[in-house]
Amino acid sequence: MAETKESWGSRVGLILAMAGNAVGLGNFLRFPVQAVQNGGGAFIIPYLVSFLVMGIPMLWIEWAIGRYGGKFGDHSTPFVLGRMGKANFWKYFGVFGIWTNLAVASYYCYLESWTLAYTWFSIDGTFVGKSLEDVSAFFNSYTDLGTGGIINFPKVAIIFFLITLILNTYILSRGLDKGVELASKIGMPLLILFGVFLAIKGVTMVAGTEPHSPKFDGSVGLDFLWSPQFDSLKNPKVWMAAAGQIFFTLSVGMGTIQCYASYVKPKQDIALNAMSAGWMNEFVEVVLGSAIVIPIAVGYMGLDWVKANAGFMMGFKTMPFLFQQWGTALSVLAGICWFGLLFFAGITSSLAMGTPWMGFIQDEFKWSRNKSAISFGVIIFVLALPCILFFEKGVFDEFDYWAGTFSLVVFALAEVIIFAWVKNNLKLGWDEINEGSDMKVPHIYKFIIRFVTPAFLIFVFFGSMINPLGGDWLGALSSLFSGNGWPLDKGSVISQMFHLHVADTRWFIDGRITDLFITDMSRFLLILVFAGIGYLVYIAGKRRKREGNYV
Ligand code: ALA
Repeated sequence: MAETKESWGSRVGLILAMAGNAVGLGNFLRFPVQAVQNGGGAFIIPYLVSFLVMGIPMLWIEWAIGRYGGKFGDHSTPFVLGRMGKANFWKYFGVFGIWTNLAVASYYCYLESWTLAYTWFSIDGTFVGKSLEDVSAFFNSYTDLGTGGIINFPKVAIIFFLITLILNTYILSRGLDKGVELASKIGMPLLILFGVFLAIKGVTMVAGTEPHSPKFDGSVGLDFLWSPQFDSLKNPKVWMAAAGQIFFTLSVGMGTIQCYASYVKPKQDIALNAMSAGWMNEFVEVVLGSAIVIPIAVGYMGLDWVKANAGFMMGFKTMPFLFQQWGTALSVLAGICWFGLLFFAGITSSLAMGTPWMGFIQDEFKWSRNKSAISFGVIIFVLALPCILFFEKGVFDEFDYWAGTFSLVVFALAEVIIFAWVKNNLKLGWDEINEGSDMKVPHIYKFIIRFVTPAFLIFVFFGSMINPLGGDWLGALSSLFSGNGWPLDKGSVISQMFHLHVADTRWFIDGRITDLFITDMSRFLLILVFAGIGYLVYIAGKRRKREGNYV
């Protein structure tokens, strides 16, 4: 067995880094929006069930796959999966575990840089005295959105993006314990502190009649999110959204968990550590994530306004205005806490997205840590440019759709098949989860991993392929049986893939490029990056074969 050069400095550091990987912008910006758009309390049961039957098993599977690979000195998903899969082609599925992170990090770091910028704007009092319209207009001018031009060129935002990227690169270049682990040990406690402060403010708001008083108590928003509606269990649309959120928030199907776990020492616990990090993420998401944006926004703007305006940009376009209702000093403090917590949430996740590429390039091509970190920074810069410059033309959405949503399901499905269905692997994997474990893993999970999780993932996979119009499955079935075909939703994978809902599929009209051209070029770029990583995996595989270390 090869010696792993790097490892985690302490158990607390490992758990905080893994929790930091999971806790991200998704917890505070994506979760509340998904919950609101899927009926509030209607969302919560499918969400929790998805966590139990898909999230938890995937956490154990990915931790186990990662630590198993680390025993052989492998820190990247292609070779970890290749070794477990016992067949050559599996390593190409592992390409997802690097590619997803590069593609997601490119837009994620941009969002993260907004939070850094907005922390600064909160400190220097930019929002003091601004109306809701002014705060919203400020966001548009900061990101250069709404200009109607083909290119967005947000100068200040690009500067903050560069600062964010350099910071990420620098921390990654310091290695696991002195870089990622240290950042998590500082960032996670501060994030929780800031979050608890805002959550207390949010849920204790009392309606009043003064000009700056909220119209509704903080409990109104909470009630909306937390009154379970059991009939939602019958709605596949809500199930898909809930499963998608579990994927994104836990960072399963991404490749980061496997990579972090590959640096865990062979007999160190993974079962309890996985649960600690996973449940910490759920605490931050379900408790803190639901106690800030929604109660505060509902308190001042009302439930109908929030339902109509819910979107992840609400955190930037609305919150700085709402904080002002608390008075100048408190609004500055709340702004620092809100954007500061988003920044810590973001950076601890983007650092995790850097490690799969670094692990791969260090293992297979013997690049130094500095060189690997710099190469990550350069790749993200190149991939982020189209997201920034063509933000309004949908490049950002395109990256998020394919890399941040669809590929997570594909990769997780491949992993669960390798883990539970390739010959002898379930026993090997189950032993791996339990080796050195500080908790007794319930035996029922062996059954869940073999049957329930794959079935759930297959449902999510096919569901996203053929998602019917408006998520109305019963309507779609009746349309099918009455001979009118299956009405695909615009967001379904098949419709997206073949542009079924695009009225005009030309790339050029009157000598000008169309939005579709930009969309297709961004897809081409993603495919190119995937193929490039695949080629590197092929070269690395050949080199390993020569060295007798072939999987
Ligand atoms: N898990 C990370 C988030 O929630 C990616 O943002």
